[in-house]
Amino acid sequence: MAHIVAVSEQSLRYAADLIKAGDLVAFPTETVYGLGANAFDERACARIFTVKRRPSFDPLIVHIADFSTLDRIIDRSALNAATEKTMHTVISSLWPGPLTLVLPKHASIPPIVTSGLSTVAVRMPSHPVAQQLIRLSTGAIAAPSANRFGFLSPTTPQHVEESLGTDLVLILDGGHTTVGVESTILDLSEDSPHLLRPGGISREQLESLIGPVAYSGSTHKAPGQLKSHYAPRTPLYMFRDIPFADGTLFLFFDSTSRDKWCEEHNIAPTDERLAVLSPHASLEESAVNLFSVLHELDKRGAKQLYVQQVPLYGLGLAIHDRLQKASNKKKWGQTSESE
Ligand code: TXA
Ligand code: MG
Repeated sequence: MAHIVAVSEQSLRYAADLIKAGDLVAFPTETVYGLGANAFDERACARIFTVKRRPSFDPLIVHIADFSTLDRIIDRSALNAATEKTMHTVISSLWPGPLTLVLPKHASIPPIVTSGLSTVAVRMPSHPVAQQLIRLSTGAIAAPSANRFGFLSPTTPQHVEESLGTDLVLILDGGHTTVGVESTILDLSEDSPHLLRPGGISREQLESLIGPVAYSGSTHKAPGQLKSHYAPRTPLYMFRDIPFADGTLFLFFDSTSRDKWCEEHNIAPTDERLAVLSPHASLEESAVNLFSVLHELDKRGAKQLYVQQVPLYGLGLAIHDRLQKASNKKKWGQTSESE
């Protein structure tokens, strides 16, 4: 069983030694907890797929802590001048932070990390614990979110323990994550920038820096971007105005929406079957709370969960993407045909 360990110089060194020795460590990032292995170690990275029960066609993100490491991860010689410029613009203003870039892969990254693709996903997390772990180990840690494949992402060490605890030695405790949704994935390997996954950096933020960023919604075919994902065990549906039924939970965006609905349905706003993502309708706060609220509601063993749609700008795009994918899981243990 994994130990949740407080962060100290000693525990960080121990965790870094585990990574160097080819073991896995769960660690905090600003988005969600990651399940990390030495990105240059093929066998260690293979273990990530086994522990997560993740299909081998779903590539990993390589996490770095220093700009100089980038040249060991990507093949800079394969970049044209325009891409080089775009890359420079986004990383100089958004790294470290919740932005992942897809770029031509360096030969030093084993094929298992990228599922055999010629591109690699790379990001520089801003969380100090992630940065120290990366620096104290091998400079590059391959890590997916630290949850079983297809299920809710972890935003606390307890979420990691509940999901993967039996397979891990160490979970570094960084408390609750501060962004709450995964990094934005921006593909710079094609002629023009393409958003593969909305996340902690908004599309608007990217466009203000580099101009138009194409996004084909949750339907875009990227490896691992499956229709069904991020799902609780409780069947989740996007909100419909249905009458209150036994065993049904409702998750509202904000208190005002909840109160309005309660008035129409003659239900007390304090009813324990109701929950709210952000009392004052903040998308940032909704992102932070999203997975922990879903984890909590999932423990109630309800028959179904209805979730209100959030506004589709800023971090709302990432929140909506996760809810949409969670609602595509038909029922516990059975996923939609796309998985
Ligand atoms: O915030 C995050 O990004 C978190 C933390 C731990 O850093 N990580 C995370 O990893 O969300 P994961 O494995 O749950 O999602 C990574 C996704 C994959 O599902 C895949 O779609 C995409 O990144 N990806 C990785 N390499 C890619 C590539 N070469 N081309 C296109 N997509 C890629
Ligand atoms: Mg994930």
